Order: sequence, then structure tokens, then C-alpha cells
Amino acid sequence: MAGLYAERLAWRLMVESGDPVVYRVDAAPVPDTADQLPFAVTTIQPGSVGDELFMTRGHRHREPSGEVYVGLGGHGLMVLYDGDETRVVEISPGTVAYTPPGWAHRSVNTGTEPFRFLAVHPGGVGQDHASIAAGGCGARVLRAGDGCRVVPARTGRSSGKRASTAEAGAPGEVHRSPAEARREAGESRRRRRPAGSS
Ligand SMILES: [Fe+2]
Repeated sequence: MAGLYAERLAWRLMVESGDPVVYRVDAAPVPDTADQLPFAVTTIQPGSVGDELFMTRGHRHREPSGEVYVGLGGHGLMVLYDGDETRVVEISPGTVAYTPPGWAHRSVNTGTEPFRFLAVHPGGVGQDHASIAAGGCGARVLRAGDGCRVVPARTGRSSGKRASTAEAGAPGEVHRSPAEARREAGESRRRRRPAGSS
């Protein structure tokens, strides 16, 4: 995680004062081959480095492929970035969200309890972390009072870059324009299944 947070000094001080676990990934023992569907549960702890909320490293699949996320506990955001456009999707328990092929993705805990989600993707697609470390994921999610705000991240590709910027809100809430909400509705569907359904 070194170098991923904007506030490098705050990161170093946090590591030197105990190096807490920011997140963990519990992967199912499923072979990472094209005929399989590897899945994992990620748990991001609540907290921040300076004002920047705890997050995953983020990655892009080496072989373009989609990925399904299901919120299990807590509240967070998924930040999606295609190198030009940034999208932000809220995830709470029961939320089903989708990452389109080719988009970088990173998750952020915006709440006060552990943020847990299930992720499922085709096997054999690989993960490219280096491009996220070098170019960012389009936006940073910062603490703002009891909520958060999303700000565009510098990527060195400022010309022509489009970013959906959320304003401060309650944990797990992101305020967006009607156009942004309609666009996201096509990629994130929320469902609460009755107990016992599959
Ligand atoms: Fe992924």
C-alpha cells in the first residue's frame, strides 16, 4: 500500500506506530483457470490515512473481463476508472454492483464498521496493480465530517478527463446528479433477496 495514499507522511507515521491491517482478502480455494469462477470476500477496516479513507490497492484485469460485487456488511464505495472517466458506486449489504471489462476498480470503506463484500470474476484474467499504483484510480475518497467526499485524483491525464465528483454526505451516501444516477443504474442493481433464496 506504500505510495498509494496522497498523504505520504501520514502513511509512514501509521506504519511506524503499529502498521495496522487495512484490509484482508479471503479467497475461496477455486482454481484460477478460465473455466472456473474464483471468488473472495474482502474486508476493509474503518479508518483513514490523513483524510483519505481506507481502501484496497485496486487493480485492472489483465484480460478484460467483468466482475460482480455483492455487499455483505458495512458501507463503502467502489471507484471505477477506464483511464478517462471515473464512476463511483455505493455498496451496502445486499447491493449487487458490476465492474465492466477494462475498468480499473478499487473499494473504499466509508463507514464506521468493517466493510465486507463478495467479488466474483472469471478465472485466469490476472490482476494488474502496477498501473493503478502509477496512475491512480481516477478519484480519491476523503473523510468529510461524518461522511465522505470524492475528489478527482491527479493522473497526469488532465486533458479530456471526466470525473464524477460526489459531495459530502452521510457514510455510504454519495450525492450525484440525476444524469450520473441514471448512468450508474445501468451498472449497479440493488436487490434484497428473501431469506432462503439463492
Ligand atoms: Fe477485479
